[in-house]
Amino acid sequence: MSHRRFHHPENHAPFAFNKESDDLIAWWERKYPSERRASAVIPALWITQKQNAGWLSEPALRAVAERLGMTYIRVYEIATFYTMFNLEPVGKYHFQVCGTTPCQLRGADKLKDFCERKIGPKGHVSGGGKFSWVEVECLGACVNAPMIQINDYYYEDLSIETLEKLIDDFAAGKEPQPGTYVKRQTSAPEGAPTSLTDETLYDGSRAKPLAAILNAPKPPEESAAAPVKA
Ligand code: FES
Repeated sequence: MSHRRFHHPENHAPFAFNKESDDLIAWWERKYPSERRASAVIPALWITQKQNAGWLSEPALRAVAERLGMTYIRVYEIATFYTMFNLEPVGKYHFQVCGTTPCQLRGADKLKDFCERKIGPKGHVSGGGKFSWVEVECLGACVNAPMIQINDYYYEDLSIETLEKLIDDFAAGKEPQPGTYVKRQTSAPEGAPTSLTDETLYDGSRAKPLAAILNAPKPPEESAAAPVKA
């Protein structure tokens, strides 16, 4: 698991919302009755983290608490529970490596070892501030295991080779495409579909006339249904 405590909180810089964050949080607050505006805490923390270079300092958490009328400890509890909230500085590209069982069975341990060698120790920012990585629990993309969330996007079906290329591309200032890194469409079978491939399933050629339903009322005779002429 990643580090879930502040690192050197005594050194945290003061925090104030900028106009963009202020407007976005106000938008979320309007979704709830004013006495329930604490319900906006998760998006408010996310917006605050975006403004604060990808992490939440102690002054930032206090600003959220004050804004939403919450006690500081309640906001702190939420921020320390969810690994989507970082409590210490992160790199420009922050890797959340899923280490839960399906990803582990598909090679997540090798990805973690590679991150350790290429980026450095877990939870630390690489030289130049470009990269950091942590291990997280299941990110809900197990069918495309192993996967890593990099900033806001998922990179899936990874291997050492594709991960190395991703890191090199980010280092070179490119923005690699998120999604799967094997030949498949989203979560469909790798290569080509392996089931329901018979086209006659879809072209209508298998359609049969509807079987007659026993004892169903007979349709009215044509003459009986014809309008009565004056
Ligand atoms: S186990 Fe990795 S995404 Fe679910």
